[in-house]
Amino acid sequence: MSSVAVITGASSGIGLATTRALAAAGWTVVATARRPAAAHALRELAAEGPGVQLKSLDVTSDESVQECIGSILAELGNIDLLVNNAGAGHRGTL
Ligand SMILES: NC(=O)c1ccc[n+]([C@@H]2O[C@H](COP(=O)([O-])OP(=O)(O)OC[C@H]3O[C@@H](n4cnc5c(N)ncnc54)[C@H](OP(=O)(O)O)[C@@H]3O)[C@@H](O)[C@H]2O)c1
Repeated sequence: MSSVAVITGASSGIGLATTRALAAAGWTVVATARRPAAAHALRELAAEGPGVQLKSLDVTSDESVQECIGSILAELGNIDLLVNNAGAGHRGTL
C-alpha cells in the first residue's frame, strides 16, 4: 500500500501543485479544501485515477478537522505526511 499524504488548501496554488506532484510520485493523496465540489482543477485531477481522494476540511474549525482526520484514519489507517498549506496571504499598505 502506498504512503498517505494529507494536503490542506489543495484547491489552488501550492496545494494543488503539491497534490499533483505527490500523486505522480505514487502517493495516496487526500486533497482537502473547504468546498472540494467547487474546485474544478482538483476534481479533474481526482478523476484521473484512484491516487487522489477529495475531502472537505476547514482548518479554522476544530469540528471539521476532527471529522476529516477521523474519516481518513478510519478509511486509510494512517497518515504519513501532512502538508499544512491552507492559508491566505495579505499584501497592502500599512
Ligand atoms: N504564493 C506565495 O508566494 C506564498 C508566499 C508565502 C507563503 N505562502 C503561503 O502558502 C500557502 C499557499 O499559498 P498559495 O499562493 O498557493 O495560495 P492560494 O492559491 O490562495 O491557495 C490557498 C489555499 O488555502 C485554502 N484555504 C484558505 N482558507 C482555508 C481554510 N480556512 N480551510 C481550508 N483551506 C483554506 C484555499 O482554499 P479555498 O479558498 O478553495 O477553500 C486555497 O486552496 C498559503 O498559506 C500562503 O499564505 C504563499
